[in-house]
Amino acid sequence: MPVELTYYGHACFGLKGGGATLLIDPFLTGNPLAAVSADEVEADYILVSHAHGDHLGDAVAIAQRTGATIVGNHEIAIYAGNQGLTAHGLHIGGGWDFPFGRIKLTIAHHGSSFPDGSYGGNPCGFLLTIEGKNIYHACDTGLFYDMKLIGEEGIELAILPIGDNYTMGPKDALRAVKLIEPTVVIPIHYDTFDVIKQDPTDFARAVEAETKARCLVLKPGESYSL
Ligand code: NI
Ligand code: MN
Repeated sequence: MPVELTYYGHACFGLKGGGATLLIDPFLTGNPLAAVSADEVEADYILVSHAHGDHLGDAVAIAQRTGATIVGNHEIAIYAGNQGLTAHGLHIGGGWDFPFGRIKLTIAHHGSSFPDGSYGGNPCGFLLTIEGKNIYHACDTGLFYDMKLIGEEGIELAILPIGDNYTMGPKDALRAVKLIEPTVVIPIHYDTFDVIKQDPTDFARAVEAETKARCLVLKPGESYSL
């Protein structure tokens, strides 16, 4: 069975596979480029990479409406649990076999305070194994050489930030592709705000000229199945 992905803008994806609907980093309210509203999006599981507002986003409201389980680091899981939500906490390097597939938390070099300034634990990326396919969502991070270790798992799809300023920019994201060696790359975390404006087609051209990966530039609302 294919895994169906829909890009909702910024770092947010909806994913259908393994009999479940996943939502990653649902920053929808306040995102000028969001392709869906927090009132209409569906989710059985909501994965939150870190507590910054542009990733935690509408996670709590969507979980309250849908009954979705929040998946994130221990601190985010405690935060969700304190609001009466179902949550599953993991931490960096740890994985768990959910009914739809496996989620492993990877390192991410970034911060993770909640919008009120309280401690949000360490930020993470996600290595998802669904329908036998490995998907790496790097979330917010700078370049790190251990991406090579993630690549050794055999990555069908790598979702990488290219916005610069808060995360890797296009040049470092291209180096990341060389370390990970995925089959397909999707760039994210650009254009939402003025300080992260980028031309994703320049990045795509460089990826396809210098690596074996195919680069897919998705507009918010567009889907891809793998
Ligand atoms: Ni962030
Ligand atoms: Mn961010």
